[in-house]
Amino acid sequence: MSESINRQILLVEKPVGKLGPEHFKLTNAAIPEPKDGEALLRVRYVSLDAANRAWMHGATYRSAIEANSVMAGGAIAEVISSKASELKAGDIVFGDTGWQDYAAVPAKHLTKMPKIEPMTHLLSVYGVAGLTAYFGLLDVGKPKPGETVVVSAAAGSVGSIVGQIAKIKGCRAIGIAGGKDKCHWLTSELGFDAAVDYKDGAVFKALRAAAPKGIDVYFDNVGGDILEACLPQMNLHGRIACCGAISQYDGVPDAHGPRGIPGLIVVKRLIMQGFIVMDYMAQRDKALADLQAWVGAGTLKVQEDIIAGLENTPNALIGLLAGENRGKRMVKV
Ligand SMILES: NC(=O)c1ccc[n+]([C@@H]2O[C@H](COP(=O)([O-])OP(=O)(O)OC[C@H]3O[C@@H](n4cnc5c(N)ncnc54)[C@H](OP(=O)(O)O)[C@@H]3O)[C@@H](O)[C@H]2O)c1
Repeated sequence: MSESINRQILLVEKPVGKLGPEHFKLTNAAIPEPKDGEALLRVRYVSLDAANRAWMHGATYRSAIEANSVMAGGAIAEVISSKASELKAGDIVFGDTGWQDYAAVPAKHLTKMPKIEPMTHLLSVYGVAGLTAYFGLLDVGKPKPGETVVVSAAAGSVGSIVGQIAKIKGCRAIGIAGGKDKCHWLTSELGFDAAVDYKDGAVFKALRAAAPKGIDVYFDNVGGDILEACLPQMNLHGRIACCGAISQYDGVPDAHGPRGIPGLIVVKRLIMQGFIVMDYMAQRDKALADLQAWVGAGTLKVQEDIIAGLENTPNALIGLLAGENRGKRMVKV
């Protein structure tokens, strides 16, 4: 990369069906000048998130991404220069820089990060993925020792951490993931008690076999048919932590949603609760202390899937939506 050029990836068109490389364009721009209150950042690692695709549909917990703008996305970046008193050159921050080499961002929209090695852990276990797993499972799912916890997209960045925290908390952990290899990895490497390959069909039956005592906590990353398969197997007073609905993000969503709501929720006295990780930021330090202790003790394994080159970011996201990744996917810029 030339150090005087800012490479940017634009979303040139909002996809109607499935996301493809044709929706993006690599372009060159000048390196921006930070205004008062802003910092000039050199982006180091761009986070690839299922939510990147959901943002193209319209406003969610953030505004929609518009066509012909730099593709939005979180990243770990280094401060090059600063016109904000709270940041100085050399600081490491997390923020929505977009998919580009450099960005000028208001300091109030950036989170200063500790300098840890490897830096990539700031996007995986100590970043949004780890915190989402932590708060979604512990605060929303409220698992008790001996209970059965099921998580979907279990081999992904959030799911792989959810299942391991469930084990740390003394639960039976069951993952739902696509393909034999991923399922084998969950049980042999990450310590899940069982894994269900949803691409092998008959998810309901396979879940019944993996969770013979029913499900106490379902951590839902996918929605759709998998949520529908879990619902009737929930135990009395079960909790469903609604984290995301990746089965609905890319392309045209299923014609029907999960059937059985609200009857099952009433009869089984279920709690079904959505959450957004940003709402927990005031409690972040406690979560980070626990996550660091578990990583240090070796009870929480961190899986990262790092792809090199800004130009590969579109394909990295398309691949994530298709299930190419194990653990946290990111692009080294
Ligand atoms: N609520 C919050 O604050 C919050 C914060 C962060 C993320 N999230 C949510 O967490 C979930 C995971 O996101 P992530 O960014 O960490 O991605 P990820 O889990 O690292 O990757 C997504 C995985 O989803 C699986 N998948 C794709 N299409 C699927 C389908 N139709 N049915 C079942 N599984 C499918 C793929 O694995 P397979 O090979 O197993 O299909 C893929 O690897 C998303 O729903 C996201 O929106 C929520």
